Amino acid sequence: MPAARRHPSPSPASAHDLYARPAVRALSASRIRELVNEGIGNPDVLAFWVGEPDEPTPEFIRTAGIAALEANDTFYTHNLGIPALRETLAAYLTRLHRPTGADNIAVTSAGVNALMLASQLLLEPGDRVVEVTPLWPNLVEIPRILSAQVQCVPLRFAAGSGWTLDLDELLAALTPDTKVLYVNSPNNPTGWTLDRAAQQAILEHCRRHGIWIFADDAYERLYFGASQNRCAPSFLDIADVRDRLVSANTFSKSWLMTGWRLGWLAVPETLSADLGKLIEYNTSCAPGFVQQAGVVAVKEGEPVIARTVERFRAARDYLVAELNGIPGVQAALPAGAMYAFLRVEGVADSLAFCKRLVREAGLGLAPGSAFGPEGEGYLRWCFASSQPRLAEGVRRLRAALGR
Ligand SMILES: Cc1ncc(COP(=O)(O)O)c(C=O)c1O
Repeated sequence: MPAARRHPSPSPASAHDLYARPAVRALSASRIRELVNEGIGNPDVLAFWVGEPDEPTPEFIRTAGIAALEANDTFYTHNLGIPALRETLAAYLTRLHRPTGADNIAVTSAGVNALMLASQLLLEPGDRVVEVTPLWPNLVEIPRILSAQVQCVPLRFAAGSGWTLDLDELLAALTPDTKVLYVNSPNNPTGWTLDRAAQQAILEHCRRHGIWIFADDAYERLYFGASQNRCAPSFLDIADVRDRLVSANTFSKSWLMTGWRLGWLAVPETLSADLGKLIEYNTSCAPGFVQQAGVVAVKEGEPVIARTVERFRAARDYLVAELNGIPGVQAALPAGAMYAFLRVEGVADSLAFCKRLVREAGLGLAPGSAFGPEGEGYLRWCFASSQPRLAEGVRRLRAALGR
């Protein structure tokens, strides 16, 4: 007998009962998605709005995934991931940052799932979270899903110096009642990247006050500054294993694998068992054949990363120079990630302006307001693209602005 008959409802649900809980209703929908939906399927739109490399996943990684499927790797895996991938990632982090064991690694179903899991692991309703903004909206909304309070510390833009953080302002916001600092460096959308001295000061401050650092390191390998290990400065380089540090990462950007949905968390060993429980109740595990492809990506993918960084560096240099050549447009040279975040004089409503660009100029850019109020007046342009495409995009922007 159907459940509804055994337990008849005393009265029909009121309209109020049919909505999601208040914290979910209060979330902002992604304005990037809103805009993409506007132009979806329209072949005349030249799109730079999504943060995605323009090349398909390299063949050797695809081959590994196909081979795993053909070998019937179609079953659940351990919650924390297959041993081969956890060990490979531990060796990778040991090479890049600091000694890491497989027990410190949890494989996740992409970076965004890693952000949710880490947030579920650390946050109670009402906890205070501090974030440096403008910022990819998912990082701001995920703590809110869990009813945490988010306080933003804004970066500032100046024509000569680009995007900078007032370190004292951030440290003042990191009060003893703060639970977690969320920091994404290199940052989406500005490309701002924390330097070692600032990282050290933040780490010491957080140690003093017992604050967790949650580092979203999605773009650590897409870094254009000088470095010995082809990697942006990371909290993992300076923190020790007893520090309150969780690092999230993804295969999406560095290994050109956005659609595979594979990522990981690096955590103190003491969190692993609880993280395993959360993975069980969220996704249970990442797909086995995708994890097998991940092993090959990490083991053999360094040349792919090196080539991608050089390609993106050339694209960045070209695009930023072209944008700054348009009267009334300013763009800083980003130190990392894959975006130019440009200011356009006269644009007060970036969402409305981007919609106009789609409709009238066939150009798809993301509105700065999608990244918080500090981003209003700016547009985000993903430069993971060929030079002819970028040139055509610039031509369309110039035409739309009449400049
Ligand atoms: C800052 C940042 N973190 C994490 C991610 C997660 O990427 P994915 O879910 O594709 O792994 C993204 C994707 O754009 C991002 O920009």
